[in-house]
Amino acid sequence: MANHIHLVSFLIHSPINHTVLSWADPEDNRLEALGNLKRWQELAQTLERGMFDGIFFADTPGVFDRYRDSHEDAVKYGVCWPSHDPVVLLSALAAATKHLGLATTMSTSAYKPWTIVRQLGTLDYLSGGRIGWNIVTGHLRGEHRALGLEQMEHDRRYDRADEFMEVCYKLWNSIRDGAILADRQAGIYADPAKVEMLDHHGDFFDCETVSPVLSSPQGHPVLFQAGTSGRGQKFAVRHADVVFSIQPNLAGMKRFMVDLDAAAKAEGVRTPAVNFGLQVILGGTEEEAQRNLDTLIERMPMDGALARLSGTLGTDFSKFDLDQPLAEMQTEASQGLMKAFANIVGDRPLTIREVAIKWGLAVGKPQFVGTPEQVADKMEATWRETGCYGYNLTPTIMPTSVENFVDEVVPILQKRGIYRTEYEGTTLRANLGL
Ligand SMILES: Cc1cc2nc3c(=O)[nH]c(=O)nc-3n(C[C@H](O)[C@H](O)[C@H](O)COP(=O)(O)O)c2cc1C
Repeated sequence: MANHIHLVSFLIHSPINHTVLSWADPEDNRLEALGNLKRWQELAQTLERGMFDGIFFADTPGVFDRYRDSHEDAVKYGVCWPSHDPVVLLSALAAATKHLGLATTMSTSAYKPWTIVRQLGTLDYLSGGRIGWNIVTGHLRGEHRALGLEQMEHDRRYDRADEFMEVCYKLWNSIRDGAILADRQAGIYADPAKVEMLDHHGDFFDCETVSPVLSSPQGHPVLFQAGTSGRGQKFAVRHADVVFSIQPNLAGMKRFMVDLDAAAKAEGVRTPAVNFGLQVILGGTEEEAQRNLDTLIERMPMDGALARLSGTLGTDFSKFDLDQPLAEMQTEASQGLMKAFANIVGDRPLTIREVAIKWGLAVGKPQFVGTPEQVADKMEATWRETGCYGYNLTPTIMPTSVENFVDEVVPILQKRGIYRTEYEGTTLRANLGL
C-alpha cells in the first residue's frame, strides 16, 4: 500500500471518455476539444493543480464493430469514434505542465518495438521523464481489421508481447553511462564503444540497430498494464510498474489483489502497484448526486452501450436476451473482464442489460456517488481495505466533473493526510514513488 492515495485521470482522445453520449451534455466541451489543443492543456493544468500523478489515455484504435457485426452504432453515437491519436497530444500537454505524468496506450499489435521506443522515448526525453506507456496487446478485432492483420489468439498475443518487451529493454539499455560526450571542441558527440548495436532475431521480431533515443531522467517510460486474465497477469507482473484493473466491486478488487500477488510469487517478482478504475459522480447532496447519475443513464442509448460492451468482450450481444445473466463465454478479446463480470463475487449475478449500462457509463468501473465527503470516505475505505495504490478516475462531463473533483474532493483527502500536497519529484516514476 502506498503512503498516500495515487490518482491518475483516465481519458480517451475521442468524443467521450467512458460515458456513452457524454458529449451531448450541454456543459460538455469534448467536441470542441477534439479540434482545440488549448482545451486539453487547460485540462492538464487542472489535473496538475489537483496533484494527479498523471493523465492517462486509453486508446482503442479501429472501431467497435462486434455489435450486430457492424460499426454503425459506434459511429452513430460517437462511441470512441472518431478515435484520434493520443500520442500526438502529449508534447503539447508536456509544454503546458511541469509535474504531471503523461501516459498513453500503444498496442504491441499495431506498432513495432523500435517505433514505440522511439516515439515514447523522444517524448520522455523532451518532458524530462514524465511519460508512461500502457502496454496493450490489441484485444479489439477492429484494430486488426484496420491494419489488415489477422488477430492472434489471446495467449499467443501475450507471448508475442513478451518478446516485444525483450526488444524494448535491449534498446532502452543499449546506451551505457558516459556514452554521450557532446564535446564541442573535439567535435565528438558520442563514444560508439558505449552504444551497443542490437542484433535481435526472435520468433516474432527482428531488430538490428542502435537505440534511436537518449534515456530520460527516469530511464525509460513508466510501464502500465491492464491484462486481467491468468496469462494477462503473468505478463503484467513481469513488466508493469503499475497495473490497472477494472473490478465491479470491493470483493472483486480484493480477489484481484490476491490473484496478482500469487502471479507475482509464481514469477518470483515483486507485485506491481495496482490502481483500480473508478468513476466519481458528485452532488451537493446525496440525492443530487443520484440525480446526476440518473441523467447519464437516461441519456444513454442502449445500442451505444452494447456496441462498446460487445467490442470489449468480443461477443455480439444483439443475439442475446438482455435480461438473462451474463454467462462467461469464450472470447479472444478481454477474457479478464469477461470473467470478472460473468462470475461476480460477493453480489448477485448481473444481467446483460445491467452490465451494458455499467459499460455505457464507465466500462464496468464501479461508481462512487455522493457528496464530496461521502466520496472521500469511500475512496479512503476502499484504498485501506484493498491495499491498492490508488485509482484511475474516469470523468463524465468534461471538464466540469474533473474541476469539481479537484476543487471539492482533493482538499478533503489532503486534509486527512492521505493525499499529497506537493509533488515529490520531477519525473513520473518519482511521483509514483517507484
Ligand atoms: C483498465 C483497463 C484498461 C484498458 N485499456 C485498454 C486500451 O486503452 N486499449 C486496448 O486496446 N486495450 C485496453 N485494455 C485491454 C487490456 O489491455 C487487455 O488487452 C485485454 O483486457 C485482454 O487481456 P486480458 O484477457 O488478459 O484482460 C484495457 C483493460 C483494462 C482492464
